[in-house]
Amino acid sequence: MGAISPMDSQIILGVSGCMKLRKLKLETDLAGKRVLIRIDGNVPVKSGKAVDGPHGRIARSAVDIDWLSQRGAKVIVLTHLGRPNGKRVSAYSVRPVAKRLGGLLKTRVTLSRDIVGPKVVKQIAAMKNGDVLLLENLRFDPREESNAPSLAQALASLGDIYVNDAFAVSHRAHASVDAIASELPSYAGPLLANEITVLSKLDKHMKEPFVLVMGGLKIETKLPVIERYLNSAEKILIGGALATTFLVAQGFSVGKSVYDNEGVQLAKALLAKAKNKLILPTDVIVASSVRKDAQVRRVDVSSVLPSDRIVDLGKKTIEQFEHALEHAKTIVWNGPLGMTEVPKFCHGTQAIAKVIAERTGPATTIVGGGDTVPVLESMHLADKFTLLSTGGGALLEFLAGKKLPGLEVLESE
Ligand code: 3PG
Repeated sequence: MGAISPMDSQIILGVSGCMKLRKLKLETDLAGKRVLIRIDGNVPVKSGKAVDGPHGRIARSAVDIDWLSQRGAKVIVLTHLGRPNGKRVSAYSVRPVAKRLGGLLKTRVTLSRDIVGPKVVKQIAAMKNGDVLLLENLRFDPREESNAPSLAQALASLGDIYVNDAFAVSHRAHASVDAIASELPSYAGPLLANEITVLSKLDKHMKEPFVLVMGGLKIETKLPVIERYLNSAEKILIGGALATTFLVAQGFSVGKSVYDNEGVQLAKALLAKAKNKLILPTDVIVASSVRKDAQVRRVDVSSVLPSDRIVDLGKKTIEQFEHALEHAKTIVWNGPLGMTEVPKFCHGTQAIAKVIAERTGPATTIVGGGDTVPVLESMHLADKFTLLSTGGGALLEFLAGKKLPGLEVLESE
């Protein structure tokens, strides 16, 4: 990686009306400083390899790690991976993250087996300016998730400055996200700062018409977002397994389709409130199985057979969605609109991704949810949006108007 300066190229905080976070000043002398940078390297791991494309979470954090390293900082990277529940579980070691980071930075990224303690102190003392050290999975220590001051203090003692560059975990009041920020001079990293700048404008400077697109499975996490924007959104398009839950709520049979059983009552209540705003599928693609060679048919939502599984949006629905997005000036999209893990069930997601990418410019387009990133990368669309958010749950909580502990501790006075 060359000497990239993300702070030069990204939108800087401080725009009027936006949430203001403390950020590292460009002129800060970082040479020889021990910088603790919290990233979200929580990506799927397959056969010991981090699944992280050019627009993946690790790749995007690497830009900022490189920037710190190029400025002579001793960069100590903090992350979690999965949910090991406070125990050392080898399947959740961050070794694959170290490998991926090393490949991106074209330099050795040393992995520390310990998170805190004398061995780590020794490793850091041996670091040269520009070196990068990754600490083992923070969630191996139960004090991480309990936001324990003792862990925050032990981590803080390893560095001179703390940088949170992990929007995706900023909704967690964890020691490396929340408590640590009171122990050291602490700042938002460029990746995090940029996300918040774009997202904050949604509330203060929303360009209308606004169209919200929601997919994925769990209704519980999406409902607060839908409810918050019920008035301001012109239309709310619902796809994926989320739409199947609404179809069940409307009384349709959905065969063997995946849906959120517990969410049906919530869907019913929302339908009663927001019928004219919601656009639900009118036709769908059904398959006899989720295998690659499964036979598929396009059917009206009233004609799904007991043996069918809904796997994608139908052609009519895609056209309805496209039409709803045609004149939008703000678009927020979260969650896949079909079973995107099977390439042949990606058509709806791909079609809508294309339309949203084409609207970027005249419209502010915000896309989130890790599951869609591989689809966007395969279409070379990942950098065609105003913001491709790294956040999953964090993005939904931010959009729902909740306060995120990791951001609150970085807010400037
Ligand atoms: C995510 O993947 O959304 C973040 O890494 C947070 O992970 P968590 O839901 O396990 O806290």
